Amino acid sequence: MASINAAASGTFSIGGDLEVNRLGFGAMRVTGKGIWGDPPDHAKAIAVLKKLPELGINFIDTADSYGPFVSEDLIHEALHPYKGLVVATKGGLTRHGPDIWAPVGRPEYLRQCVLMSLRRLKVDRIDLWQLHRVDEKVPADEQFDAIKQMQAEGLIRHAGLSEVKVEQIEAAQKFFKVATVQNLYNLGNRQSEEVLDYCEKHNIGFIPWYPLAAGALAKEGSVLSKIAQKLGATNGQVALAWLLRRSKVMLPIPGTGDAEHLAENVKGASLELSQADFEALEHAVK
Ligand SMILES: NC(=O)c1ccc[n+]([C@@H]2O[C@H](COP(=O)([O-])OP(=O)(O)OC[C@H]3O[C@@H](n4cnc5c(N)ncnc54)[C@H](OP(=O)(O)O)[C@@H]3O)[C@@H](O)[C@H]2O)c1
Repeated sequence: MASINAAASGTFSIGGDLEVNRLGFGAMRVTGKGIWGDPPDHAKAIAVLKKLPELGINFIDTADSYGPFVSEDLIHEALHPYKGLVVATKGGLTRHGPDIWAPVGRPEYLRQCVLMSLRRLKVDRIDLWQLHRVDEKVPADEQFDAIKQMQAEGLIRHAGLSEVKVEQIEAAQKFFKVATVQNLYNLGNRQSEEVLDYCEKHNIGFIPWYPLAAGALAKEGSVLSKIAQKLGATNGQVALAWLLRRSKVMLPIPGTGDAEHLAENVKGASLELSQADFEALEHAVK
């Protein structure tokens, strides 16, 4: 049996100079329920993270708000000094309880987010720092200018945005080069199609979150489940293969707290969809 490796997904250079395998890992699911507190089984979470390099995953997405702080701490414990790995983190969301997320985009808070992520991850510079949300209560220019300054100081190498529209990417680009955009996108939810097309045109990495979901397509008897059955794959693997084929700038980051699920997801990277199957899935949801 061919070895399971994320390298099968091909590579993308974040910001033009930071090459990663396109199938990455989202480290939001290694915390407690509601992305709050410690994971139920610490050793299990560490084991999942330690498995990433073995499976060829060299792009890991996290955020200071996952836990909060728990995901970054676990990544540090399992993987520091991150040889050959790119750890991307995010800031700008505060946490007041399970599943509660409140944006704070004051420049002094964003700076604290970066300084504390540097401390938790024990690095001198963050490879990719993403603004988790543009805070509507704070002028966007102030948030983008804070990022520009932190990049100029060398605290962050590349900068990205999350949950944004094309106009916001263009506004941010007046301050810094937008290296990645992380928006909700999957087979069943393509509300960010226009943003994806923009990213492809400008060679900006597009990180689709919730990549395994397929909405109504996940049902028994759907086009997705029929194609998955034909290929001897799971719905999730086909959903990932579809994303990887959809665009060369696509960097899916499926997340799991389970080592078997992780291996299953990485296997999706080597699943090849025919043009006919790709199009059938493309047209199955509008
Ligand atoms: N920028 C943002 O606003 C934002 C928002 C949400 C997420 N994210 C990022 O995106 C990443 C992915 O998003 P997500 O976690 O919401 O969605 P996802 O990766 O599509 O789905 C994760 C869910 O699917 C389950 N799962 C994973 N692999 C599976 C498998 N092979 N078989 C069965 N179940 C499986 C996981 O449970 P198990 O743990 O049981 O496997 C978990 O409940 C996150 O880790 C985070 O880094 C960003």
